Amino acid sequence: MNEVNLLPGTSISGNLFLAPMAGYTDFVFRSLCAEFGADLCYTEMVSCEGLARLNKKTAELMKSGSAEKQRGIQLFGVNPDSCFEAAKNAAALNPNIIDFNCGCPVPKVVKTGAGAALMRNLKLLKELVAALKAGTEAAGKKIPISVKIRAGWNAEEINAPETAAAAVEAGAAIIGIHGRTRAQGYSGTADLEIIRNVKKAVSVPVIGSGDLFSPLDIKRMLEETGVDAVMIARGAVGNPQIFIQTKEFLSTGEIRTVFGDAEKLQTARRHLHASVAAFGERRACKEIRKHLCAYSKGIRNGTVLRNRIVHCSTLTEYEEAFSDFFQSEGIESLPIDFHL
Ligand SMILES: Cc1cc2nc3c(=O)[nH]c(=O)nc-3n(C[C@H](O)[C@H](O)[C@H](O)COP(=O)(O)O)c2cc1C
Repeated sequence: MNEVNLLPGTSISGNLFLAPMAGYTDFVFRSLCAEFGADLCYTEMVSCEGLARLNKKTAELMKSGSAEKQRGIQLFGVNPDSCFEAAKNAAALNPNIIDFNCGCPVPKVVKTGAGAALMRNLKLLKELVAALKAGTEAAGKKIPISVKIRAGWNAEEINAPETAAAAVEAGAAIIGIHGRTRAQGYSGTADLEIIRNVKKAVSVPVIGSGDLFSPLDIKRMLEETGVDAVMIARGAVGNPQIFIQTKEFLSTGEIRTVFGDAEKLQTARRHLHASVAAFGERRACKEIRKHLCAYSKGIRNGTVLRNRIVHCSTLTEYEEAFSDFFQSEGIESLPIDFHL
């Protein structure tokens, strides 16, 4: 059912997206999520300064995974000229969305005036959105600009509906909203009411974010806020299966595809091998640890595996950890197949 649903006024299909996550949503993880049914996946946030200069590291962040059918490139920045150039360069890669990060709470980012700090400077935010739109047009592309915001700066400054309206006035075609304030970071809970208020404040499609850890959470967000789509973040880490299970739940009211421990760990190994192939053993083995620890959560005796994983730094060590665990748990080890 999701396949034929279009985000109103766009040609983007589906409503279950993988949210941007710095340090997590590289093209391997995005490809894996797409394989498990994510309708659209966002890159990690890409610096407009770096992209305007076509810096090599930036190019890697925007690489596309083989299974990705629709994708969003997320940009962050604070300078209109760089935003223009960056959007022009991003547009050349034909993403389905160019998203602008106005929600990042990290001090390093907000102290430059970027990320969530833009929610306190709507004049600049509008200038940047207009520059991004002009950049895509200069590339000869019609790519919707989305703007991802938070509830506000802190509990005293909740201005998501005004920010969303300002972004739309400047040319944003989609709004993403994480229902926490910048001050909350990732603590507390996401406020569904503020998401509902953003949906009421604008006529463009709204994508909801925050605390989507299960198909039930996602159904609730869609029903209680009226958003057109959701983006799943931490709930997909170690659990890319959430997309297929949510699709089943939304269309039938049941989860039919149940993944056992063996299948979850097989996915973890595929993720490991694909990362090594993509980024080289040294780097991949360092960066994959957090993902592998997440896969081990919720499986029987998962702490035993996790305690091994945290000490691994080569492919052989990881494979030995899996192999020993499979043996002790009576899990069959399957051959690895992953096509990038
Ligand atoms: C590790 C991590 C990295 C994140 N990086 C980004 C980012 O680069 N850009 C962004 O807009 N949001 C980022 N987010 C926020 C998520 O996209 C999402 O809005 C937020 O985590 C709320 O969803 P959740 O409660 O389902 O995790 C990040 C979140 C996490 C946990």
